[in-house]
Amino acid sequence: MNRLAWTPTYTARIVQIAVINGVNLNALGDRDPDIYCTITYGELETRVYEWASHLAVTARCFQTNHEGQLVDWCHEARSWADGVVINPGAWTHYSYAIRDALELFTVPIVEVHLSDITAREEFRRQSVIADLAAARIVGQGADGYRQALEFLTSR
Ligand code: DQA
Repeated sequence: MNRLAWTPTYTARIVQIAVINGVNLNALGDRDPDIYCTITYGELETRVYEWASHLAVTARCFQTNHEGQLVDWCHEARSWADGVVINPGAWTHYSYAIRDALELFTVPIVEVHLSDITAREEFRRQSVIADLAAARIVGQGADGYRQALEFLTSR
């Protein structure tokens, strides 16, 4: 190949994914297994790290029960994350603070819910972050996180 004539093409590749979980998700395993899943939060994180590794990306998992902490992590993740997977828990339904924090991202966001929030109580059907998400995955249990990672890495 004539190296002078060769023009490299660069494809933006997702390499670091922030997986952010909100309020009460640390109690997985104790929460109703018929609605959520039987695995604990720790086991969920382990699976996320394994799935990410299979997809040759790095995932960094976060969970908090404090809204301001989640906002701070979103702000920090702007400097390193190439994609975001978020399950804000109940904050999904009313936190404009988290919505505003997510709005700052320029990288794709996937909204994940273990349960099918579209088929539960009325108050859960509303998501104040839905329109910010490049994809929404609901009702797939823990596998929803795998699907979210796949979505981000397939873009
Ligand atoms: C949830 C659904 C929310 O309505 C609920 O408050 C949660 C978990 C889910 O993953 O299904 O805490 O986000």
